[in-house]
Amino acid sequence: MTTPALLEPEGVFIADMTGELSSSTGRYTKRLSELAAIYSDTAALEKAIAEGSDPVIYEVVEYRKSGSDIFFGTTVMNPGVVGEEFYMTRGHFHAQRDMGEIYYTQSGTGLLILESRDGVTREIEMKPGVCAFIPPDWAHRSVNTGTEKLVFVWCCNQSAGHDYGEILRRGMRKRVLRRGTDIVVVPNPSYQ
Ligand code: F6R
Ligand code: ZN
Repeated sequence: MTTPALLEPEGVFIADMTGELSSSTGRYTKRLSELAAIYSDTAALEKAIAEGSDPVIYEVVEYRKSGSDIFFGTTVMNPGVVGEEFYMTRGHFHAQRDMGEIYYTQSGTGLLILESRDGVTREIEMKPGVCAFIPPDWAHRSVNTGTEKLVFVWCCNQSAGHDYGEILRRGMRKRVLRRGTDIVVVPNPSYQ
């Protein structure tokens, strides 16, 4: 058996309000128009886009080194709503069903919504200092319920992969809405 080459350790500074990494290897941005399928209020979504604003909903910045088992990064979510529904990520299961993840919130506030394949749902509050443990085989979606950016650090196995298909097809069982000044978690009426 050959011994794998040693990788160089590194301290990466993560700016708590912007989620920027002092050293990163990749990034992507998701705008509202790319996420049309996940919001229930199609009229509000089309209106926002027609009015010329196709806002950035979130940006993901990653630190990934070939030869390592784990990788990490940040997700930076802007505040806002589409109709009543707070800005959220697509949500996914991991393709590797035995691989979990952690989400550590650096700034802002939100809700991490999770569901198992057989329909159990959970919510974990996201606020600075909370490290959410996402066990293997729980779908996870983060929702910015605050008025500031929500910045969280995630870490998982590089092989975990994403399975978006199921959540895109049928949605998640719970939705997180702004009703006046309240944040409410309601059953998703269009869940199939
Ligand atoms: C990786 C992970 C996060 C998300 C990111 C965007 O396993 O959970 O890095 O990928 O927060 O969310 P999605 O991928 O659901 O659009
Ligand atoms: Zn994940």
